[in-house]
Amino acid sequence: MGRELRPGTRVVRSARALPPGEGTPVAPPLVQSVAFDYRSAAGQDGVFGGDRSGYVYGRYGTPTTAALEAALADLEGTAAAICFTSGMAAIAAFVDACAISTGGRVVAQEDSYGQTRALFERWVRERGAKITFVDATDVAAVERALAEAPTALLYVEAIATPLLRVTDIAALAKAAHARGAKLAVDATFATPLLVRPASLGADVVIQSLTKYINGHGDVMGGSVAGNADVAKAMRDRTILDGAYLPPHEAWLCIRGMRTLDLRVRKQCENAARVATHLVGHAKVARVRYPGLASHPQHELAKRQFGGLFGGMVTFDLKAANKDAAFRFLDSLELTASATTMGDLWSEVLYPAISSHRRVAPEERARLGITDGTLRLSVGIEDAEDLIADLDNALTRV
Ligand SMILES: Cc1ncc(COP(=O)(O)O)c(C=O)c1O
Repeated sequence: MGRELRPGTRVVRSARALPPGEGTPVAPPLVQSVAFDYRSAAGQDGVFGGDRSGYVYGRYGTPTTAALEAALADLEGTAAAICFTSGMAAIAAFVDACAISTGGRVVAQEDSYGQTRALFERWVRERGAKITFVDATDVAAVERALAEAPTALLYVEAIATPLLRVTDIAALAKAAHARGAKLAVDATFATPLLVRPASLGADVVIQSLTKYINGHGDVMGGSVAGNADVAKAMRDRTILDGAYLPPHEAWLCIRGMRTLDLRVRKQCENAARVATHLVGHAKVARVRYPGLASHPQHELAKRQFGGLFGGMVTFDLKAANKDAAFRFLDSLELTASATTMGDLWSEVLYPAISSHRRVAPEERARLGITDGTLRLSVGIEDAEDLIADLDNALTRV
């Protein structure tokens, strides 16, 4: 400009960029900037038009969120990943774009995460969506459902809550593809450490980043990983629907993700110890853990999860009533009674009052959830302390 700027102008424009210097940061830069300044209108035009890579506005992509997206795509083994403000935002964006918005039929796992199922049921009620719910652990039942009518999407979870049922991703991918449908797998409970669904034929992998990937209970986020077409469709969703993961959340998530391997391995080890301890406990009727030989999909879990069985353990109290469950929950000292999972610390969920509160008692019974069913997300604490905490609470039941 050639003219000396006055302080009022200088402060407004101050510290836009970090001073250059040798050395690459080992932690990623947190770029909070919502907008990006262009020296060249033609360059800006090229980025808006998709001919050049770059950033234009917070909903279109931010460098820090993009760093997380690249890391997730690498982890999932997909061409790309797009991040959303929550797991539910990711699920809603993908399933709507892939099937519901164009009238495509969906075959969905009947015991999907409660809010996923509630969302799908709302779409059936409000938008006339064609969604058929099936037992996704029964491949023949899925094949029959797929054969009933043309289907755009088969939607399943790698490990479903709260009974920790395991789906056969390779077999389901084959079944979906044989009918021209895509397979989407919500792998939140399994994490990319147990399984990378894309390597088994899944077209899309969904994660609630809120859980194991971040793992520190301080971020909500979700991701959709898939090919370039999926990424393009999801980018369109973040731009128009607006649920794009902001940079600070992405930064925290990258930080959390760096210890995913350590955390999940320890959680699996602790969960196996807790599950083995609870089997045969005088106050416990049944233990569900994919690592136990008694688990209905134990052989599949062994084959599919590479020797890990996850950090979740579900068990039924012999006293299958609310009073007993409340006494148990109120007596826990270390384990948090909290409606989430996958964090560093142990957490317990009581489905009858939380995730399955709105599910009719007959349907709950059909699914195998009693008033004594409790779901534990095992943390990285010392296993002995955790077991002592559970034992102490069980004595009060
Ligand atoms: C398997 C599964 N998928 C998706 C979600 C939704 O994720 P979020 O809570 O980040 O919206 C959850 C939440 O508990 C979940 O358990």
